[in-house]
Amino acid sequence: MKKVGIIGVGEYLPEKILTNADLEKMVETSDEWITTRTGIKERHIAAKTEATSDLATRAAREALKDADLKAEDIDLIIVATVTPDMQLPATACFVQANLGAKKAMCFDVSAACAGFIYAMTVAHQFIARGTCKNALIIGAEKLSSITDWQDRSTCVLFGDGAGAVVLGEVKSGGILSTYLGSDGHLTGLLNVPAGGSRQPFSKEVMEKRQNFIKMEGNEVFKIAVMSMAEAGQIALKKADLKCQDVNWIIPHQANLRIINAVSKRLGFANAQVYLNIEKCGNMSSASTATALVEAVKADKIKKGEVVMLVAFGAGLVWGSVIIKW
Ligand code: UT7
Repeated sequence: MKKVGIIGVGEYLPEKILTNADLEKMVETSDEWITTRTGIKERHIAAKTEATSDLATRAAREALKDADLKAEDIDLIIVATVTPDMQLPATACFVQANLGAKKAMCFDVSAACAGFIYAMTVAHQFIARGTCKNALIIGAEKLSSITDWQDRSTCVLFGDGAGAVVLGEVKSGGILSTYLGSDGHLTGLLNVPAGGSRQPFSKEVMEKRQNFIKMEGNEVFKIAVMSMAEAGQIALKKADLKCQDVNWIIPHQANLRIINAVSKRLGFANAQVYLNIEKCGNMSSASTATALVEAVKADKIKKGEVVMLVAFGAGLVWGSVIIKW
């Protein structure tokens, strides 16, 4: 098995920023409620003309440049998203065309907020076994397109953005362990009820606002804390490491209170947690991706340091990846 690591990173956040003050004018909420309950102050919102693949392509271009690779050097593109450009084809195919990555095989992974970790885990297998050499893994979301802007319990949470990494063979370090889990009995806690085969789009769907995200926030909160902490512990065990061996934890950025509870359970100090929730909100699969990219670009992660990615989302699904730099 080859060693697989991150050899380039990129990010794109749309220009438009929606602040808590802006939301106060849209629904009955307050900056105080949003800040204390979630840790979010603002989020980026894509333009009407921008699709998820446009965000993904911009992040991917930066990652390719950072890896010093050309589009033709990429033989696998995976886009993790719950907001694909279209029902079909895969958003990864649009990204391929935009980049001119002619030699790549392309598909999407649908694992909600854990999507980036699921996609990295899949790509890891391909590269470790020598099936692929260089893979572009992108977490990209235009959550604003499935957000109910009349529902204060969800619309204050989400944002748009994309983070990309190039995975390739490395001489030392790289991915030390991966762990993925799911519980399909809990699909009812967080979903977009309509727009798929069970309930295709109709006038009634639109009237009942069933084409937007619905979430049992409280229930999801409790399970998020438990399953992310457990995912981190299992990934540590698989890598034969202890929490003290890990320098950084980069968790899914759904809620600062969830992040604090998870990092405390795992035994991390606040200074070891990388956050972008305040400025980005919850961007589903793009959250872990952009937070990782930002930590790398800010030179936080030094050579030889160990990073834990951990995430949780609709499905329910969860997972963790441990990487040595
Ligand atoms: O990313 C994938 C996974 N997603 C998550 O992990 C999210 C998990 N859940 C959460 O982060 C939290 O549950 C939320 C941030 C969504 C909600 O926080 P909470 O502390 O669980 O609040 P709550 O739903 O229990 O609501 C408390 C109160 C309610 O009022 P009453 O019934 O106590 O009078 C809500 O109606 O806060 C009210 N409320 C709001 N008030 C002002 C709900 N949303 C708002 C709002 N502004 N935006």
